[in-house]
Amino acid sequence: MSQTPSGANKSAIAKTEASGGAGILPEVLAFTSSLALDRALLFEDVVGSLAHLTMLSRRGIIPRGDAQSIHRELVKILEASNAGTLRLPEEEDVHMAVEAELTSRLGEPAGLLHSARSRNDQVSLDLHLHVREQCAAAMDELATFLGELAGRAETELDTVLPSYTHRQRAQPVSLAYHLCGYGAAFVRDLEALEFVLQQVDALPLGVGAIAGTSLPIDREITRTLLQFSKLTANGLDTVGDRDFALDFSYAAARFQLHASRLSTDVIDFCSSEFGFAKLDGAIACGSSMMPQKRNPDVFELIRGKSGRAVGNLMGLLVMVKGLPGGYNRDLQEDRAALLEVGPMLRSVIGAMRVALPRVTFDRERCMAALTRDYTQATDLAEALVVKGTPFRTAYQAIGALVRRCQEKGISLAEANEELIRGIHPSLDAQVLQAGDPRASVARKVNAGGTGPASVRAQIDALKARASEYRARAAAVPRLAALFDGLKGAEL
Ligand code: ARG
Repeated sequence: MSQTPSGANKSAIAKTEASGGAGILPEVLAFTSSLALDRALLFEDVVGSLAHLTMLSRRGIIPRGDAQSIHRELVKILEASNAGTLRLPEEEDVHMAVEAELTSRLGEPAGLLHSARSRNDQVSLDLHLHVREQCAAAMDELATFLGELAGRAETELDTVLPSYTHRQRAQPVSLAYHLCGYGAAFVRDLEALEFVLQQVDALPLGVGAIAGTSLPIDREITRTLLQFSKLTANGLDTVGDRDFALDFSYAAARFQLHASRLSTDVIDFCSSEFGFAKLDGAIACGSSMMPQKRNPDVFELIRGKSGRAVGNLMGLLVMVKGLPGGYNRDLQEDRAALLEVGPMLRSVIGAMRVALPRVTFDRERCMAALTRDYTQATDLAEALVVKGTPFRTAYQAIGALVRRCQEKGISLAEANEELIRGIHPSLDAQVLQAGDPRASVARKVNAGGTGPASVRAQIDALKARASEYRARAAAVPRLAALFDGLKGAEL
């Protein structure tokens, strides 16, 4: 445990009446403390407290003069934290640490702030604010990346390479199509993030420890100040609910799995075995021993971090499993996993944005992988279908042609009229022309296919979704703006 509490009498708050009971053992405090992790929630905690304080004062639950002093000190605490000069007292968690700090500055009136509040609804609020903040930032960054990816696809319409099924060469596609494929997955990830924003958009504060409060609070005031669109419906549910955390972890893990698959494509394509692409020196990492190496470490780490993302989701799911209703201290164990989700997700998006533009494709080598192979066999079969041959018959005829080519050690492009003789009456020189890789790409005119018009439409759609989600992210209330508003709000 990195936070070993010292100076057992430095503050009376966490260690005695308020949370621990008099005489709690230092080892127990050390074991139960979450301050080492949840001090990262200080901004959220202070913003939430400022809103709660404002509501308490407006409702006449605490005297306005005291509210003003608490307000002033809370703002100073946050500013000191931002300036890196705040030393929080060692307490059980960030909520008690802030209260202890306030008490050391203001004395007994600091205790007014926790009226009609429990740490159970307080920590839920902090986590709601945290997830909303991280999710909005990630949505903006992912939407920006999606726009950039669509722009890159536009420059790769003429780069033709094999697509793969079972990691065996399948059919020719444009690189633009390949990139749009990942773009389609990232659109779903943006939709998943949007769902998270909907799930997290309810104010938990005001339900107290579990049952509500007998003090005359008005949750609507707090809700408006913190810009949530509704209140949570039931306190028992609220204090034990981490669904919004699960949803965010799931959305993040799923995006990171998509990023991982894209990374594996890049890693493979940059290997000498594929030889399709090259890493710019600015993103290639060396080996400490082998002087010739230019390794795709950035993409390997994107892939590696997807495992951590899945682990965080699993950890949160299992934490909730088996809990009874209401608050249980087990829930504090969400902190390590959940606080990693947003920053890791955003670091992966950032790494993708830096690294992908610095991967360049060698068009000739990509094309060479098609001309030496049999990836156009389906196109020849379809050319026979166009001439009235049932597909299964055409499939068998072209299969026979491929075997003849393989026996002679030649590609489909090299097949001549003599070689095709006797296979099928409709198989002629005109059908053979369908084997040109560029023609193969161009002929896939259906929606969702690799043909240029379809890919153009896909690129346009991705760009439209990118700007749509950037606008949505911009509309989400953010902590800095809430803090600015609360600083000047009338008490
Ligand atoms: N540190 C606790 C947590 O993060 C705060 C809530 C504590 N509540 C309690 N009843 N002990 O979950």
